[in-house]
Amino acid sequence: MEALRTNRFRRKPTNTHRSNHLLSISLMALFFLLLFFFSNNYSITSLFFFPNSLKTSQCLNPKTLQTLNGENFLWYAPHSGFSNQLSEFRNAVLMAAILNRTLIVPPVLDHHAVVLGSCPKFRVSDPRELRFAVWNHAIELIRGRRYVSMADVIDLSALVSHSAVRVIDFRNFVPLFCDIDVNNFCVNNSEMDDSLLKKLRQCGSRLSGYNTDINDCVYAVEEDCRTTVWTFQKDGENGALDSFQPDEQLKKKKNISFVRRRKDVYDTLGPHSRADVATVLSFGSLFTSPYKGSESYIDIHEAPRDQKIQSLIKEIEFLPFVREISDAGKEYALRTIKSPFLCAQLRLLDGQFKNHWRGTFQALKQKVDSLRQKESLPLHIFVMTDLPMGNWSGTYLGDLANEPDSIKLFLLSEEDKLIRKTAKKVVDASHGWKFGASYNDGIKEDCQRHQRLPDILLHVEESVCSCASLGFVGTAGSTIADSIEMMRKKEICSH
Ligand SMILES: *[C@@H]1O[C@H](CO)[C@@H](O)[C@H](O)[C@H]1NC(C)=O
Ligand SMILES: *[C@@H]1O[C@H](CO)[C@@H](O)[C@H](O)[C@H]1NC(C)=O
Ligand SMILES: *[C@@H]1O[C@H](CO)[C@@H](O)[C@H](O)[C@H]1NC(C)=O
Ligand SMILES: *[C@@H]1O[C@H](CO)[C@@H](O)[C@H](O)[C@H]1NC(C)=O
Repeated sequence: MEALRTNRFRRKPTNTHRSNHLLSISLMALFFLLLFFFSNNYSITSLFFFPNSLKTSQCLNPKTLQTLNGENFLWYAPHSGFSNQLSEFRNAVLMAAILNRTLIVPPVLDHHAVVLGSCPKFRVSDPRELRFAVWNHAIELIRGRRYVSMADVIDLSALVSHSAVRVIDFRNFVPLFCDIDVNNFCVNNSEMDDSLLKKLRQCGSRLSGYNTDINDCVYAVEEDCRTTVWTFQKDGENGALDSFQPDEQLKKKKNISFVRRRKDVYDTLGPHSRADVATVLSFGSLFTSPYKGSESYIDIHEAPRDQKIQSLIKEIEFLPFVREISDAGKEYALRTIKSPFLCAQLRLLDGQFKNHWRGTFQALKQKVDSLRQKESLPLHIFVMTDLPMGNWSGTYLGDLANEPDSIKLFLLSEEDKLIRKTAKKVVDASHGWKFGASYNDGIKEDCQRHQRLPDILLHVEESVCSCASLGFVGTAGSTIADSIEMMRKKEICSH
């Protein structure tokens, strides 16, 4: 299979040579050849220039094929908020390494621009729909000059020096895959004409798996959390039933018939599989979380028989922010707060958190009360919360704000100079562009021009909290809290 794959991309030169050779042998041979191919409905041009590779030539143009030189790709559809997207990105890195594919790095999607649904309730969007939603959103971000790559925010430099991981930025991938002149790609929004948009739409539907006739091009993974839990190198588990299945009540009520199986991702989608010949492998969501003693979608926590993957699993446990962001957090701690401080992350408005104010404030009060005994006053507290200050009165936050002698509160907002300065730095650095830039010349500046400043407040706030030497109080169940705990565990602030 490996040989086949390599061949496919080298086919053009060898086969041109071969067909010339054939032509020169005899007319007879040509006659039989033509007869054979016509009977198989192949067109004459594809016969002469790309025998056997008609399908591939529809996927990528021959020049692109040569440029890519045998590279295969992995795409997926992230969703929901940033923390979620980051956890899916980490899973994508892992999948790309296991399947030896170059990961297409997606943009940071707007908060909840794409939603998955609920795995435990077996009510999730179809992988194709998800992929197409992500595609449309990504194009919208590009057109609106709001595109921020995951790699602009998350530092991938250490990861890609790890030999198991190759990445390409989505913006460097699209012109190749869609056969669009890079000079037309990041033109002024108003100048993106209908034909370009139409081409992009077609291309997006291809990447999402709507055109299943072009088999070698995209393999669209249909398995999702309703039917599949991906595993890796777990003996005897491939094909086994997962321990979590929809219960009878749910089956009846929702009229569903899902059966969840554990499948080895390498056996199912790796070499020797049908998926392996595809230039792009497209997953749907790569979201997973522990559920009732199982995992909702990906159960790969170790790979004792594959040292490379094993060490990668350790490495992606935590992926740091780019230096521009982590430095901003340190700067704020050092220059603005100046003293040892406590970080309080209070998520109060979004979804499930609306109903847990009491518990969230109680945890903070407990911590503050204990610090009052030990530390010199005023106590410095950095607060990151989605509750606007105008709504603080009557809450514990309001109480704290009314004690200026013993409590000093610090908050950051979008308008802060530090945040704007950092956002500008992130745009100027545009780390994501590096990945796959060698395939496209001159695209970066066009795309960067008039770029709107990205929303990085949350990331800087997390970085500040990683520096809080008096401790951290987070909101139970918040992925942001988990992310901060991880940063603190890895002692990011002292790096
Ligand atoms: C992984 O893919 C790269 C690039 O396509 C190729 O050079 C390499 O041989 C592959 N490695 C394995 C173990 O198949
Ligand atoms: C983009 O288009 C708008 C409106 O047509 C125009 O005002 C602006 O100068 C253009 N920007 C560039 C970079 O061409
Ligand atoms: C349940 O689903 C099956 C196919 O999935 C369908 O044929 C059947 O009509 C459905 N029953 C009800 C009550 O909706
Ligand atoms: C916050 O305050 C605004 C304006 O006073 C009010 O309309 C809104 O309902 C408040 N929100 C909450 C969650 O209390």
